[in-house]
Amino acid sequence: MNPAADLTALRTRGEKIACLTAYDAGFAAILDAAGIDAVLVGDSLGMVVQGEDTTLQVRMADMIYHSRIVRRGLHRAPLIADLPFASCTTTAQALGNAARLVSEGGAQIVKLEGADGQVERVAAMVAAGIPVCGHLGMQPQSVLTTGGYRVQGNEPESARHIEVSAQALQAAGICMLVLECVPAALAARVTQALSVPVIGIGAGPDCDGQVLVLYDVLGISPEPPTFSHDFLKGAAGIAAAVQAYISAVKAGRFPPRRP
Ligand code: KIV
Repeated sequence: MNPAADLTALRTRGEKIACLTAYDAGFAAILDAAGIDAVLVGDSLGMVVQGEDTTLQVRMADMIYHSRIVRRGLHRAPLIADLPFASCTTTAQALGNAARLVSEGGAQIVKLEGADGQVERVAAMVAAGIPVCGHLGMQPQSVLTTGGYRVQGNEPESARHIEVSAQALQAAGICMLVLECVPAALAARVTQALSVPVIGIGAGPDCDGQVLVLYDVLGISPEPPTFSHDFLKGAAGIAAAVQAYISAVKAGRFPPRRP
């Protein structure tokens, strides 16, 4: 079993990777049966499940609990779990918390936001046998310092920073990268430049795959982001909506290419 290698194989054969978030066993089982390529227990659970305004309140205990119950619903798709806010402030803390997500939460890949100050921690996790997914572009855990949820990488300097950070994370051993809310052209460049799968969210159609928050895909979120899409509209039910999302990603129909 090597979920990271399986996802890389999809990229290698040019098949788009379809991912969604899940937070409990019931939805996880629907995603798994529909053929999702990977399930992310995102710290977005703080906003969509716990009703908080940001992801900053999410604790390790929450991530472990939700990962464990999602894992029970999965028989095939790999489980990626987020390292929450302030869970990786030192290498020792990052290693300990990543190991807990794997051993107590059942995660097969852990995801952490950012690269500044994190590259050494990523390398330590990888050296300890923990597959790591990076996360660049908009980083909701940095909302207090970046000042809001907005597209990143519009200016040449910040675009360059994202490109350099992506290379640094790849050199540290990440097995995949999530790029959130960056211009499509920048996401395409990063995807071309890396050899690990790049999964976009609000980052245009040219990434190796896509991830969305399940509650946005099912039209549950009160204020879904503009780049998302309600796949339940017109579908026969939740399983059909998830299948429609997977088909649209695989066929390159989602997200639509903008002129
Ligand atoms: O927390 C989350 O759900 C995420 C996705 C938006 C990529 O990180």
